[in-house]
Amino acid sequence: MPKHFLMCRPDYFAVEYAINPWMDPEAGADRDLAVRQWESLKAAYEELGHRVSLIDPIDGLPDMVFAANGALVVGGKVYGARFAFPERAAEGPAYLRWFAERGYPAMEPTHVNEGEGDFLTLDDVVLAGTGFRTDVVAHLEAQEYLGRPVVSLTLVDPRFYHLDTALFPLDGHNVAYYPGAFSPGSQEVLRRMFPDAVLATAEDAEVLGLNAVSDGTNVVINAEAADLQLELKRRGYEVIPVDLSELRKAGGGPKCCTLEIRGDN
Ligand code: ARG
Repeated sequence: MPKHFLMCRPDYFAVEYAINPWMDPEAGADRDLAVRQWESLKAAYEELGHRVSLIDPIDGLPDMVFAANGALVVGGKVYGARFAFPERAAEGPAYLRWFAERGYPAMEPTHVNEGEGDFLTLDDVVLAGTGFRTDVVAHLEAQEYLGRPVVSLTLVDPRFYHLDTALFPLDGHNVAYYPGAFSPGSQEVLRRMFPDAVLATAEDAEVLGLNAVSDGTNVVINAEAADLQLELKRRGYEVIPVDLSELRKAGGGPKCCTLEIRGDN
């Protein structure tokens, strides 16, 4: 089943402020290299048969490449983002406008939430992260607007500040995750919901290996996540490694660069 993704070319990418522990403005980042790495991610999706739409990057919004944070789209309905930090605030309306201009029904959120960074959609449930960025009340707001059950999970490690840095759906029913990123209660919830989950090591998590994109058959994943790739292959997945090392300097990986548009209009 081909998917539809929204991406944003990192033409204005930079590490010029620090809003997560990965970001070091002193060290900065190489924009040209980031663009080349991003192009290879886009090419990987297209080779798999997925459709990629683009939103124009905006000068002065260096993190806009992380399209996952721009919205949550389920059943063709768009729940907009409202960013926790002022540095990214203007991205919310920019992404909302992209969808509105294309005729998608869209809701401007009341509560702080960073889109698919903290909302991951399975067939029967939406998993939602809180603890660093997304306000837990936004989980209720999304549930009410989308009419999908939302399960709240608490993140406890600042390196894994968005749910999508600690967990990814393998398909509509199962996930891979790094238990250490979650509170004891949320670990228990994940064990109950996903007894057959792929558990990642600390080493996999530390290279943002959980920030991966699976279409149920193929998993596009950071090249450095060696153990996780082995386990995925053992389970029968096709693994497509990508090098996004330059974008990781801002705390992002393949999934962060990718907003899934579910249920086209
Ligand atoms: N520098 C960005 C931030 O801290 C990175 C966002 C990564 N996106 C994601 N979906 N995890 O907001």
